[in-house]
Amino acid sequence: MKFKLLIILAIILNTGCKQDTTKDIETTKNEIKKEWWKEQVVYQIYPRSFKDSNGDGIGDIPGIISKIDYLDSLGIDVVWLSPHFDSPNADNGYDIRDYRKVMEEFGTLEDFDTLLNGLHDRGIKLIIDLVINHSSDEHKWFQESMSSKDNPYRDYYIWKPGKGTNPPNNWPSFFGGSAWEQAGPDGEYYLHYFAKKQPDLNWENQQLREEIYDLMRFWLDKGVDGFRMDVIALISKPQNFDDMDNEGLKHPEYTYAYGPRLHEFLKDMNKEVLSKYDVMTVGEAYGGNAEKTLEITDERNNEIDLAFWFDAVRVGRDNFKQNEWTLPEFKKLVKAQSDVNSHNWPTFFLGNHDNPRVVSKFGDDSPEFRVTSSKLLAMLLLTQRGTTFLYQGDEIGMTNYPFTSFDQFDDVEIKGNYNKIIASGSTPESYLADLNKMARDHARTPMQWSNTNKAGFTSGDKTWLGVNPNYPEINVKNNLQDKHSIFHFYRRLLNIRKGNDNLIYGDYKDIAIDHPQVFAYTRIGKNKTYLVVLNMSKSMVDFSLDNKFKGYNLIINNLNDDTTTIEHNKLTLQPWEARLYESN
Ligand code: NOJ
Ligand code: CA
Repeated sequence: MKFKLLIILAIILNTGCKQDTTKDIETTKNEIKKEWWKEQVVYQIYPRSFKDSNGDGIGDIPGIISKIDYLDSLGIDVVWLSPHFDSPNADNGYDIRDYRKVMEEFGTLEDFDTLLNGLHDRGIKLIIDLVINHSSDEHKWFQESMSSKDNPYRDYYIWKPGKGTNPPNNWPSFFGGSAWEQAGPDGEYYLHYFAKKQPDLNWENQQLREEIYDLMRFWLDKGVDGFRMDVIALISKPQNFDDMDNEGLKHPEYTYAYGPRLHEFLKDMNKEVLSKYDVMTVGEAYGGNAEKTLEITDERNNEIDLAFWFDAVRVGRDNFKQNEWTLPEFKKLVKAQSDVNSHNWPTFFLGNHDNPRVVSKFGDDSPEFRVTSSKLLAMLLLTQRGTTFLYQGDEIGMTNYPFTSFDQFDDVEIKGNYNKIIASGSTPESYLADLNKMARDHARTPMQWSNTNKAGFTSGDKTWLGVNPNYPEINVKNNLQDKHSIFHFYRRLLNIRKGNDNLIYGDYKDIAIDHPQVFAYTRIGKNKTYLVVLNMSKSMVDFSLDNKFKGYNLIINNLNDDTTTIEHNKLTLQPWEARLYESN
């Protein structure tokens, strides 16, 4: 009898606690349509740097195949493969010579099929990188196009006559110099927003669009689960080709992105191709603002599903400089991206192959705090609202590379912009110092698998880009062996997130947006609220919580295995401490 009473009492108390959070539940926005691609954690692989299988120092598809079990044990849902297509590698595959062939160094189409099947067998999806703003200048379309003005492929690219001995206008390339290059027998110039070897495709041409749809179908019919779309906001070119003014020249992406026919092109692509497959699409939406980005991902518009915005990831970035930034600044950018209306679904990521290592930018990569702050970033990443993107190596806390000279870099962007940056007043030393903070090559050094030769990335004696000298300590092997490692912390968080509708779909509310050290937010689901408290600093912080969080249970933290309940409203947080609490 007593026992029954206790149960009734427990039920009453429990309901009491739930009522405490209903206040929050009432603020939940319109119903969000559930979709599988909203629930995924995507792991990005940069194939050149992931795992080399044949000792030539270049990562390849058989190398990835040998690590499928590793990916499976981490618990990710989708792999995004950076370009694997035939390419002369002016920009590591973001310059495609043949869209239907695999890069020779990476393997064969059969290898690709084996990878796809191997992932699918373990329930992991595969999305590939669709680079359709430009091709390689070695693509047969461009070779034809360049050969004469009357060639049927001429109009697949954008050709203009020069102005006297100058290019058609003053548009700059993102990779340095003019965006125009003279070529072919007629002396005309072709447009290239990126390197000279990456001529921009002319989306005004209907036949070109059809060719692109066809190559998309080629990969979709093989069974790939979608595309990451490279610089998709750039495909429709402003048609006036007017010179930019000085302001425009500082940020050419605002002139280049969101051209007049972008929506029309995306809608048509969706109608002709994407709508016929159950796949996910995520566009790289560089060069826009919130309003513009939300238009391409608004589900009512039938364009693409998701977009990467770069405001939060690039906080403090001014072209080639990484300036200081504050936590409130960062949190406001995250809020703008995450707290979008119910017709859009956000993405969340902290790094990729174009950005520095996440622990070096957002955490503290010193020996004292590298592990703790990497785990904190794991918690930030995996408790945010949006489809999540994790970059290879971040799950073991890989750091920036200590570059000491220019010949250690590979990146076309760094080399192409050298003259411009020196001319603008930087010295080689100051440019190198800036690059040590923000260069793209930090994220591209070989994955560190073990403490053996070349971090276990290759059996050979060279690698295409230097291995970070910290590999004896920072590597997968060490992470797998230590149950308190960053890797195992990621696993646990991935496990908490998987299938957890409250955490995935819950509303996002920053509860201390102006706090200079603590990032604290709730994810308010239909029947549970999560509370995330992150001390993003190396000092201890006292942090006060609202009474409504009383009774919340700590389910995971990055310092020890403790699980406790919030009993009073003042938390004392250790440096880089991260806690995830759950309502009853
Ligand atoms: C964005 C890609 O992420 C980057 O790596 C590449 O250099 C440019 N697009 C050009 O394709
Ligand atoms: Ca290889």
